[in-house]
Amino acid sequence: MLATTEAPIMAVVNQKGGVGKTTTAINLAAAMAEAGHHTLLVDLDPQANSSSGLGIDPARARRNVYHLLTGEVTTDQVIQATSRPGLFLIPSHIDLAGAEIELAALPDREHLLRHALASTPPGVELVLIDCPPSLGLLTLNALVAATSMLIPTQSEYFALEGLRHLMYTHQLIRSRLNPRLAIAGILMTQFDARTTLAWDVLDAVRRSHPHHLLETLIPRNVRLSEAPSHGKSVLEFDPTCRGAAAYRALAKELLER
Ligand SMILES: Nc1ncnc2c1ncn2[C@@H]1O[C@H](COP(=O)(O)OP(=O)(O)OP(=O)(O)O)[C@@H](O)[C@H]1O
Ligand SMILES: [Mg+2]
Repeated sequence: MLATTEAPIMAVVNQKGGVGKTTTAINLAAAMAEAGHHTLLVDLDPQANSSSGLGIDPARARRNVYHLLTGEVTTDQVIQATSRPGLFLIPSHIDLAGAEIELAALPDREHLLRHALASTPPGVELVLIDCPPSLGLLTLNALVAATSMLIPTQSEYFALEGLRHLMYTHQLIRSRLNPRLAIAGILMTQFDARTTLAWDVLDAVRRSHPHHLLETLIPRNVRLSEAPSHGKSVLEFDPTCRGAAAYRALAKELLER
């Protein structure tokens, strides 16, 4: 791996549950790795879906992201290789849910992940953080550590309200805690081109956030929902399906941006 100075850190964030954060984190990371960019996925969600979705049993990850946050271990000590070359993972653990309360008592509690990722392992060119579905302390740590936010959004009626809240959060974090935090983009996920609602929501998001809406649309694709149970990204599980093509296109679009 080539030594790099400071890798961009992209937080995959939306306080709403089930919008495709984990699916995006896993498959974008895999697509970046496939394009030759060594990528580290940090699983910051106590549900540990990114960990199990990449074939790593979170119950057995003795050292995990919690120990990284408390400073007990460095990234080098907690990083794991995955079955895909160039794709690395820092696993989560179910206990992280309770640990959030402990972390709240630590001084500098919003900056724990930023300090931990200050020493990104050499060769890592991009760090992705899979966030939990809330704007609690864990997500706050992600937003303080990150250089940008990637916002997966479902094409549904409440999408715009959620986006308004996230944009407000973005401004708040920029002014108080992390002035370098940019918006990597708003990503429409589980897009069903057969429904009028999907196109209407897309239109509305384009009108209200013209500079942030990404061109790539992630289609609803059953292969994307099947891949995690095989412990693989969709790029390995079914490299030619529409979901795999969409995440490759997303990687390309973000690299060009
Ligand atoms: N494009 C898609 N096509 C079909 N199914 C999808 C797609 N994206 C996500 N899913 C499925 O939708 C569900 C929610 O997706 P995912 O776990 O990625 O969301 P999330 O935002 O990480 O959820 P949480 O907020 O609970 O962490 C999962 O079962 C996933 O397999
Ligand atoms: Mg998730």
